[in-house]
Amino acid sequence: MEKPPKWYDAHLDEYRKVAYINSRAQYDEMYRQSLENPDAFWGPLAKEYLSWYRDWDRVLDYDFVEGRIEWFGGGKLNASYNCLDRHLEDKADKVAYYFEGDDPGMSRSVTYRELYEEVNKVAAWLVAQGIKKGDRVVIYLPMIIQLPVAMLACARIGAIHSVVFGGFSAESLASRIEDSHPRILITSDGGFRAGKVVSLKKNADEALKLSEWEVEKVLVYRHAGNGVEWDAGREVWWHEAIAQDGLPDYVEPEPMDAEDPLFILYTSGSTGKPKGVLHTTAGYLLYGAVSTRWVFDIKDDEVFWCTADIGWVTGHTYIVYGPLTCGLTTVLFEGVPSYPAYDRFWAVVEKYKVAKFYTAPTAIRAIAREGDELAHKHDTSCLKLLGTVGEPINPEAWRWYYHHIGRDWCPIMDTWWQTETGGHMITPLPAVAPIKPGSCSFPFFGVEPVVLDADTGRPVEFANQEGALFIKKPWPGMARTVYGDHERFKETYFSKMPGMYFTGDGAKQDEDGYWWIIGRIDDVINVSGHRLGTAEIESALVLHEDVAEAAVVGFPHALKGQGIYAFVSVKPNIATTEALKKDLVALVRKEIGPIATPDLIQWADALPKTRSGKIMRRLLSKIAAGAVTDPEAVEKGVLGDVSTITDPEVLRPLILGRLSLNS
Ligand code: WT7
Repeated sequence: MEKPPKWYDAHLDEYRKVAYINSRAQYDEMYRQSLENPDAFWGPLAKEYLSWYRDWDRVLDYDFVEGRIEWFGGGKLNASYNCLDRHLEDKADKVAYYFEGDDPGMSRSVTYRELYEEVNKVAAWLVAQGIKKGDRVVIYLPMIIQLPVAMLACARIGAIHSVVFGGFSAESLASRIEDSHPRILITSDGGFRAGKVVSLKKNADEALKLSEWEVEKVLVYRHAGNGVEWDAGREVWWHEAIAQDGLPDYVEPEPMDAEDPLFILYTSGSTGKPKGVLHTTAGYLLYGAVSTRWVFDIKDDEVFWCTADIGWVTGHTYIVYGPLTCGLTTVLFEGVPSYPAYDRFWAVVEKYKVAKFYTAPTAIRAIAREGDELAHKHDTSCLKLLGTVGEPINPEAWRWYYHHIGRDWCPIMDTWWQTETGGHMITPLPAVAPIKPGSCSFPFFGVEPVVLDADTGRPVEFANQEGALFIKKPWPGMARTVYGDHERFKETYFSKMPGMYFTGDGAKQDEDGYWWIIGRIDDVINVSGHRLGTAEIESALVLHEDVAEAAVVGFPHALKGQGIYAFVSVKPNIATTEALKKDLVALVRKEIGPIATPDLIQWADALPKTRSGKIMRRLLSKIAAGAVTDPEAVEKGVLGDVSTITDPEVLRPLILGRLSLNS
């Protein structure tokens, strides 16, 4: 494998002077200690990074066979207190968030004191509704300050928040409401996206109609000023709610057990409906804070910007809990990279003098495609470090980012992690070692990855040998269960290799020990860094009365990383028309949301299946990728072993059909 050219580590000498972790030797020593003695490693950090009402009795206790994980058992703390109250002493007037609206004319900064005041008001309103520790609150808001406010208000009183990404449809919101049984829903009239209004309240109304579960109250923040329907018995405007007479300005933070739930966040899996990944308080908070500090090497006077939506875990950890626990200043951006033009990110970087910037490969590709000039319109020399997350970054995108945005200097932190991991798992650190484009370098502290051979289940023996990625030991940020379904948690993550956490990704380690993530090896597609289960999209497609069967796979997509490819068979005597394709696309968007829009639909007379009736997605992926163009592929053995397929003849028309679809 190619050694990293010299210019990739131009930053190393400079970072070695300033970084928290400033040499390979220091990293190696800390890493060793984190695995050998997690108590001695995480205990002092928990004291340094968090404020506690009561000390813990033991740092770690776990059973990976049962999927039972406990960090800082017996300890008591409150996340809202850690993010707000304790900063009032020395950071009350420090900016917590620079809010940058979708409209460049709309911006506002919010200090720690202001954030604290607003959080207390909303917490007081929640208390007045009788909301207490353990109750669920679903939050469906655009990227506005009120989103972290709502989350922290819940955390303050011990309620469990579940944020639903504003791009999800009413149906998706309804299914999350039905699963988590919230007493309160917090939403807004609308949000802005590229100059257009997205009617969140309308979706929320529809979701509540669809859902069997009744929420008691809906709190609505007025943001977009669009008209809304109103149910006065159930709905309350945010500004009226917090202005109510007699509502206290201060709510005592609820002392939570270290392992009390902090939030639920739904994410797709290879089967069934999205699952409610549950994170608890102390371990998650600590892991988020420490990784924010060290991976981005953030100093207290630097501005951080993570462009993710808070509706995903990246936003939870690196816009809300990580930065606020550390008392940092970050940017909270409502808009999109393309509006008003594709230089928006760099305009915002320049405006707030962002030092550390974290985004997704898909955004970089979309921006790079629009040309280099836009990137050079702004002075981005304030940038000192870049990050990416969500999918493997392709070399072209990496080089563009490094050269045009990083000025051939900023190191790029390619952070591999997951909703379930709570924070970074395998990632470079800026002063530890040269970076190899496309590799996420080395494991973060406490993380012990291992690649197991898919056939033998044993650790791979050679450098660069690919296999399934497992993690051997618990780390503080990991999820603790699937909400309401611990069996599913055990089954999904701890049953493939008892005693180890299964990531769902394929990976390899090269001869220098660098880690490379290949991508998902389960039935999950990664679209623009967002996870979608093939089963979910298939379920949406078969809701159509003309559809007999559907099989969905991912395929390489220039912008999104992976696109969604659907093979659909219709019922007898149904015409396979363009109009039907349009209907199907609309149906999926309605059931899940625009992110699940199929890119290509191919009609299939029949789908390849095993004798037990399982669709052979491996074969379909190859066809969808355009990797097989020879109709005689089956006969020539190009598709590999097809002996388990009931009727290999179904493949020929699928290969021909693929050729006639242009992608
Ligand atoms: C999946 C997790 C963690 C926040 C974003 C997505 C893929 C994530 C990388 C990376 C290669 C990556 C993996 C992982 N992924 N980051 N740096 N390099 N792949 O969270 O929706 O839970 O998805 O995203 O396949 O399993 P998520």
